[in-house]
Amino acid sequence: MMRFTVIHFDSLPSSNIHAHELIRNNQIEEDTVVWTDYQEIGKGQRGRSWHSEPAKNLLFSIYLKTNLNVQDVFLLNKLIALTVYELLDNLSVENLSLKWPNDILVGRKKIGGILIENGIQGHIVNQSIVGIGLNINQQLFPNFNREATSLSLIKGEELDREEILKDFLALLDSRLSELTLEKQKIERNYIERLYGMGKSMGFQLEDESFNATVAGVDENGFLILEREGKQFKYAEREIRFID
Ligand code: BTN
Repeated sequence: MMRFTVIHFDSLPSSNIHAHELIRNNQIEEDTVVWTDYQEIGKGQRGRSWHSEPAKNLLFSIYLKTNLNVQDVFLLNKLIALTVYELLDNLSVENLSLKWPNDILVGRKKIGGILIENGIQGHIVNQSIVGIGLNINQQLFPNFNREATSLSLIKGEELDREEILKDFLALLDSRLSELTLEKQKIERNYIERLYGMGKSMGFQLEDESFNATVAGVDENGFLILEREGKQFKYAEREIRFID
């Protein structure tokens, strides 16, 4: 039996926001997936918005009951990113990578993004709303900061969104146990797929721009960079790639 219950909407302000509301009103249980064809105010990382044409792409939020130490909070992001990677890899998409903090890239183009909102009690993350936006059938991406692409642009055919969602959920179901049992495996797999790993890349830190070598991402989600033989860690809000 499928672990997840999917509820579908034609339009919502945002699947993350709606999942929050349904949880607050006790209207959904854990492992429910809020899936929508359109978002009026889709949320991206760092307070940005997430645009997607109606009924073209996958926009959904999964309500998970988690039990993670706060210091391991980024493990869930890594696991979700790896699951999206696996999904696309299974569809024979090439040149995939995971760009810190939460982008899925094909070459240099963005095909998907992840926005996880965690509920924390004491030192434990006990619930997470995992929002995922994945470009499936959209053909044009005007006015985007970073160039974007979609599965259909890559494969040259229209794809069935529901089938892809089901495939994703099946993969996630089989991977979720890794969160507690196979942390090392998650870390290893994530590093192997990390965009820019071991390479010198350009970064913007407040007013300063510089080149540094990507050396990893720690459990808290800090990006580890190497400059002149020394390692430095940066939070998501303070640094970004220049590209
Ligand atoms: C990013 O900025 O890359 C993260 C984008 C996350 C977008 C998804 S779409 C479904 C879910 N609902 C939202 O409002 N945002 C996430």
